[in-house]
Amino acid sequence: MSSSPRRILVTSALPYANGQIHIGHLVEYVQTDIWVRYQRMRGHEVHYVGADDTHGTPIMLRAEKEGLTPKELIANVWKEHKRDFDDFLISFDNYYTTDSPENEKLAQSIYLKLRDAGLIEKRAIEQAYDPVKEMFLPDRFIKGECPKCGAKDQYGDNCEKCGATYSPTDLKNPFSVVSGATPIKKVSDHYFFKLSDPRCETFLREWTQVRTPLQPEARNKMKEWVGEPGESKLGDWDISRDAPYFGFEIPDAPGKYFYVWLDAPIGYYASFLNYCTNKGLDFEEWVKPDTTTEQYHFIGKDILYFHTLFWPATLQFAGYRTPTNVFAHGFLTVDGEKMSKSRGTLISAHSVIESGFNPEWFRYYFATKLNDSMEDLDLNLQDFVARVNSDLLGKYINIASRSAGFLVKRFGGVVSDEVMNNPLLEEIRHSSEKIAALYEGREYAKALRSIMELADKVNGFVDENKPWEIAKDPVREADLQKVCSVTLEAFRMLSLYLKPVIPQVADGVEEFLSLPSLSWNDVNTPLSSKNPIKAYKHLMTRVEAPQIETLLAANL
Ligand code: MSP
Ligand code: ZN
Repeated sequence: MSSSPRRILVTSALPYANGQIHIGHLVEYVQTDIWVRYQRMRGHEVHYVGADDTHGTPIMLRAEKEGLTPKELIANVWKEHKRDFDDFLISFDNYYTTDSPENEKLAQSIYLKLRDAGLIEKRAIEQAYDPVKEMFLPDRFIKGECPKCGAKDQYGDNCEKCGATYSPTDLKNPFSVVSGATPIKKVSDHYFFKLSDPRCETFLREWTQVRTPLQPEARNKMKEWVGEPGESKLGDWDISRDAPYFGFEIPDAPGKYFYVWLDAPIGYYASFLNYCTNKGLDFEEWVKPDTTTEQYHFIGKDILYFHTLFWPATLQFAGYRTPTNVFAHGFLTVDGEKMSKSRGTLISAHSVIESGFNPEWFRYYFATKLNDSMEDLDLNLQDFVARVNSDLLGKYINIASRSAGFLVKRFGGVVSDEVMNNPLLEEIRHSSEKIAALYEGREYAKALRSIMELADKVNGFVDENKPWEIAKDPVREADLQKVCSVTLEAFRMLSLYLKPVIPQVADGVEEFLSLPSLSWNDVNTPLSSKNPIKAYKHLMTRVEAPQIETLLAANL
């Protein structure tokens, strides 16, 4: 395993700056962070960047409601988001904002390149307009009566009462959510990215069906969306919005702004550019078409379309490299249901911390649920308590507390070197590549299952050898040291395997075993008598069931 290090750029989706980070979001940031930490442990050059997604109508209107400028609002939200990510040990190398000078420049230059490639078209379209507020209305800002059952106060796309689906123009007695006025129709010029151009279609068919090892579900969706050659299923993409809008102005079209979804993914590059500038890295080297670097985007399944159609096409035709792959995950449910404000299950990241939860409990639990598919995953609160207490505490942490005490008290923390090739230890050591492959493939649930199976074996070894009994027999001093040394070396390797998931515990382990920061290859460097361990300090506490009630109450 001594091939040259990979050079990898990794992103998570940029959260909207109009709300709090909740545990659904955290699934994604935890999933990405585990992967990133694993790659770092392998010695690869990894850069993990993120940012707040700050533009668009909802943010503009929310700022107005709160009596703030949009820039003030997004600055406040940025601080909260950053705090939440730090709390959950999400190890971004750079956390930025899409409302940055780098992003404005990049978005404008990318747009101009697309225009010069003949892929931008201006077209007049008719849209709903609020004559009082004097602004065009996105669909979700129009409500009215359901055309089918007459239910009042329904959104422009479907009826919550009878389930009918329709378009906003079908609503009876429609009104603007912003001013209450009846929307009128108004024509204005919009700018379109011509995805229907044969060049785009050909490129996207090749990129999604041949070149990129997309998840099978994603690939099938794309096949449906892109269609067969000659079918031209792709519609052009409306990338402009009229003033008033919080965003970047289009360079050759005063009063027109880039639609937030144009500049949001470019925000990945803007964050990375900002980071490269600060760190003296060569940005161009990473983004040029013939680069040997890798680029991965972790996202939720709801935004696949943007990342596997719009974003690669934008990059390709503006002269950049395209993503190496896009990894989509499913949605988090709580106790089998969609997260809901009224049940207290729309759990904010901050409330988890405020309620005294250890963020690593969540990292661990999510990891036990994550795989490489787009299936939804469930947080079952009963199961959460059981898993954390029985696996993490009962099986793993317990190993250290069972063996470290004797070693420190009776042997000055010195391990016995001669047992380091014991068969149990060899088995754990030989699992290294298998576990590595599972992390690499985002099969965290399987990785953790393997690690916990090894932990079971270690506990079996302790139960068989009964160090607490050997300790009573003065002639068996050497045996006691051996049993405890095997146990602790096993614990060291398990800690190494768990480090991407529970990095803070791993820090504590490194500290107490007097080790430098563990990287993956250190699995082959056992504890040594030359390096005595320190006294065992508590590494993690149990979850107490009543904490769950506290957490739910905090979110009502
Ligand atoms: N701003 C866009 C992304 C722009 S990327 C250039 C956005 N923001 S978001 O705040 O709505 O979501 C951020 C990420 O969190 C998305 O990948 C989304 O899929 C994910 N999740 C939001 N709710 C989630 C769950 N309940 N479960 C799992 N992931 C969830 O989309
Ligand atoms: Zn209805």
